[in-house]
Amino acid sequence: MSDPQPVYLSNYQPPAYRVTHTELTFDLDPAATRVKARLLMERHAEAEANAPLVLNGEHLKLISLSINATPLNESDYQVDAETLTIADVPERFALESEVEIAPQENTALEGLYQSNGMYCTQCEAEGFRRITFYPDRPDVMATFKVTVIGDQQREPILLANGNPMERGELNGGRHFVTWEDPHPKPCYLFALVAGNLHSVEDHFTTMSGREVKLQIWVEKDNLDKTEHAMASLKRAMTWDEQAYGREYDLDLFMIVAVNDFNMGAMENKGLNIFNSAAVLTHPQTATDTAFQNVEGIVAHEYFHNWSGNRVTCRDWFQLSLKEGFTVYRDQCFSADTNSAPVKRIQDVSFFRTAQFAEDAGPTAHPIRPDRYIEITNFYTLTIYEKGAEVVRMLRNLVGEENFRRGSDLYFERFDGQAVTIEDFVGCMAEVSGEDLEQFMRWYSQAGTPDIDAHGDYDYVHGEYHLTLRQRTPATPGQPDKQPLHIPVRMGLVGTKSGQDLTLTLNGEKIGKDAVIHLRDDEQTFVFTDVAEAPVPSLLREFSAPVKLHYPYSREDLAFLLTHDSDGFNRWDAGQRLALLALDDLIAAHRNGVEKVMDSRVVDAFKALLTGPMSDKAVLAEMLTLPTEAYIAEQQPIVDVDAIHAAREFVRQSLAVALRDEFIAIFEANVTEEAYAPTPEQIAQRSLKNVALSYLMSIEDEQGLALCKEQFAADHNMTDVRQALTLLVHSDRDDLASPALKSFGEKWAHDPLVMDQWFTIQVSRPQPDVLERVKYLMGHPAFSLKNPNKVRALIGAFAQNRVNFHRLDGQGYQLLADVVIELNRLNPEIAARLITPLTRWQRFDETRQALMRSQLERIKQEPLSSNVYEVVEKALA
Ligand code: ARG
Ligand code: ZN
Repeated sequence: MSDPQPVYLSNYQPPAYRVTHTELTFDLDPAATRVKARLLMERHAEAEANAPLVLNGEHLKLISLSINATPLNESDYQVDAETLTIADVPERFALESEVEIAPQENTALEGLYQSNGMYCTQCEAEGFRRITFYPDRPDVMATFKVTVIGDQQREPILLANGNPMERGELNGGRHFVTWEDPHPKPCYLFALVAGNLHSVEDHFTTMSGREVKLQIWVEKDNLDKTEHAMASLKRAMTWDEQAYGREYDLDLFMIVAVNDFNMGAMENKGLNIFNSAAVLTHPQTATDTAFQNVEGIVAHEYFHNWSGNRVTCRDWFQLSLKEGFTVYRDQCFSADTNSAPVKRIQDVSFFRTAQFAEDAGPTAHPIRPDRYIEITNFYTLTIYEKGAEVVRMLRNLVGEENFRRGSDLYFERFDGQAVTIEDFVGCMAEVSGEDLEQFMRWYSQAGTPDIDAHGDYDYVHGEYHLTLRQRTPATPGQPDKQPLHIPVRMGLVGTKSGQDLTLTLNGEKIGKDAVIHLRDDEQTFVFTDVAEAPVPSLLREFSAPVKLHYPYSREDLAFLLTHDSDGFNRWDAGQRLALLALDDLIAAHRNGVEKVMDSRVVDAFKALLTGPMSDKAVLAEMLTLPTEAYIAEQQPIVDVDAIHAAREFVRQSLAVALRDEFIAIFEANVTEEAYAPTPEQIAQRSLKNVALSYLMSIEDEQGLALCKEQFAADHNMTDVRQALTLLVHSDRDDLASPALKSFGEKWAHDPLVMDQWFTIQVSRPQPDVLERVKYLMGHPAFSLKNPNKVRALIGAFAQNRVNFHRLDGQGYQLLADVVIELNRLNPEIAARLITPLTRWQRFDETRQALMRSQLERIKQEPLSSNVYEVVEKALA
C-alpha cells in the first residue's frame, strides 16, 4: 500500500461539473440503508467539453446508476476505493444512483451512523462521500430535497435540513417525511436524524418579523436538560441581529443531542447536531463551566448560519475563514453575556497553553495551511483559536465601525457563494482604506512570534524609548520567517502617580491607551513629554497572539498588579509574578535545595484577598496559579516532577500564610440561593471554590470539614464536583473512596456525569493513576467507541502530567495501545489522542526516547491516513 499523499492549496481547480439540485431518498436500515440520489448537474462554463465526471464515494455499495434515466453499463464508468468516474457525460443531465450503506458498522462517526439506536450524520468535512456518490467539496452548492423513510416504532421522528413538506405512512409499518432546503448549500452541511426523539419547543421573532419555530430534540430522559440551551439560542439569535445585523432565514431551527459525536457540534443548515455534552445541562449534573460551554457552542453553531453556511469556504484550506470568524463571534457574544474580562482571561490562558504548544511542535501549521493529507486533522486550535485572534486583530486595526461595515459588505457581496480568506480581508481593507497586505502573512506563516521588548526612561528629556524586536521561530517546512504586522496595545503607567500617562508619539498625542504598530524586525518608539518614570503595560487585552518578553522586575509586576488600568494585564502581571517565583522553586527542586517562598507573591495575594473587592470573577482568576501545562510552556526543558512540586509548594505556602483569609472568603461566598448560571453566582462559586482548593492543599481541618459538607449538601454540580475533586486529589482516601463510590452509584445512569467521574479519578497526582485507568477501561460505563468516554478517561489521563510522563514509560505505552485500537475504530479520535506524544521534543532525553519509541510502534501498524499524517510529522 502506498503512503497517503497530500492535497495542495496551489492545485485548486474549480469543479468541472456543479450540482444545482439534489434529491435524496433514504430507506433506513441499520445493516443496509438504501440511498437513492438524483442530482441535476451541469458542466462548468470553463471546463473542457470532454471533461470526465469524477464523484467522491467511499464505503458505498453501488446498486444502480443512470444518466437522464438511461442505465449505465459497467463499461461506462469506473469505481475505485475513493471515486466514481464517468468518462462521457452531456453538458446538463440528471444523474441517478442507488447505493447501500451500513450505519450500524460505522464506528468512525463520519457519514451516516447510529448512536444509541438513533440515526445521525456528520458530514463536515468529507463525510458525505460515505453516504452517496457526489462532488464532495464545499464549492458545489445545491438546493436539497430529502425523503427519509423509517420504521414508525423505532424511528417516529425523521429529520433533515430545511422545512418539512410532506409526510405519510407506507407499507410494513414504515413512514416517511420529505424535507426541502431552499438555500443552496455544500453537502458538508447536509444532515439527517431519525429515532425515538422528543422535543422541547419555543419560538423566536426575528427583527424583520419572521416567526421561527425552535426545537431541541433529545432522548426522553433528557427533556429536563434543555432549558439553558434554548435560552442561549434565543440570546444568540438576538445578539447576531444587534451585533451583525444578521437574522435567521428559515421557519424552523432544530438542535439535536447525540451521545456519540467526534467533536462539539455541527452547524448543518437548520438542523444543528450536537454532542450531548455541548447541549444538555441541569444544575445537578452540569458545572458552571459546562453551562458556559453550552452557551458558547450553541451560539457558535447558530452564528455559522451566516459565517459558514450562507457564505461558505471555497476549499478546506480556507477552513479558518468560517471557523476563526465564528469563534471570534462566539467569544464576543460570551463576553457580552458574562464577565468580559474573565472571558478574555480564560480564552487567552487556554490559548497560550495549548495553541502556543501546537505552534511550537511538529504539527505546527499556518491558519491557512498549504497542504494536508487528512483535513479532519486540521480542526485545530490554530485554525479555530488563532484564526479568531487574527480576526480580533483585524477588528482592532480597522476599528469597530469599519469592522461592521466590512462584515456587512462580506455577507452581502458573497451571499450564497464559496469564497476565500482574501475575500474576507479584502472587504475589511476596502471599507477602511487600510493596507492589509503585510497583515495577510498571519494567514500563511506558522509559529508564534517572540517579541523582545526593552524600555528606557530618559529623565533629562522626559522621554521613554521602547524598542520592540520580533522573531518567529522556524516551523516544519518554514525555516525563514518574515516580519508580521503586530498591533501592540499599550500604556505607560507612571510609577509616582500610579496612573496611565498621556502618550505622545512622534509629536502626536495618541491617548493614554493606544495601539502601536510593529511591522519591522525591530522598531524603537520614542514617547515624549513623559513626566515620570513609567512601567510599560504591553499587549493589553492580549492584542496579538505573540509571546511578549520584557525584563520586568518583581517590583514592576507587583506594581502593575495593583495599578494597571487594563484588567487583563493586571491578571497577567500576577501570573508573571507567580511564574518568576515558580522558576526559582523549580530550580531549587532540581538542585535539591530547600524551597523558600517568595514573600512578594504572598504579599500580593494578601492584598488581593483583603483589598477592595470589585469583581469576584476576576479575583477568582487572579488567585488561580498558572497551570502545570502553562508553566511547562515557559521552561526550556519540561521537568514534570519539579513543576508539580514547585506549584504545590506555592499553593501550600499561600494556604498556610493566608489560611484565615481563605476561610473568610469561602464563608462570605456560600449561598443558599437556588442555582442559576448567572455571572454573579458563577463568580461567587469560583471564588469560594478557589479558596477551598487552597485550604484542601494543606488538608486544613476546617477546610476538610467544609469540603465534606459541600459534597454532602449536594447543592449543585459545580460545588459537588469541586468538593469531590479536592477529596480525590488529596491523600485522604478514607474520605475520597466512599464519596467516589456514592457519586458513581448515584449517577451510573447518566453518561455525562460518569464522564466527570472518570476524569476526576484519573487526574489526581497520586501514583496509582495508571492502574486506575486500566481498571476503569473495564468499567461498564466505559466504551472505546464513545468519543466522550475516550476523552474523559484516556484524554484526561494524558493531561495528568506527573502520571502520563512516568519514567517507566507505561503512561506512553497505554496511550499508544489505545491509539492503535482506535485507529481501526475511529481514526479522527485516534489521531487527536496522539497529540501529547507528539510533544516529545520538550522533554528530557529519557522521556524523548520513550515517547518516540511509542510513536515508532504506532507507525508499524497499518494506519488510517489520519494517524499516519500525525505520526509521520511527529517523527520527521
Ligand atoms: N464545523 C464544526 C464546528 O465548528 C466542526 C466540524 C468538525 N468536523 C470534523 N470532522 N471533526 O463547529
Ligand atoms: Zn465552527
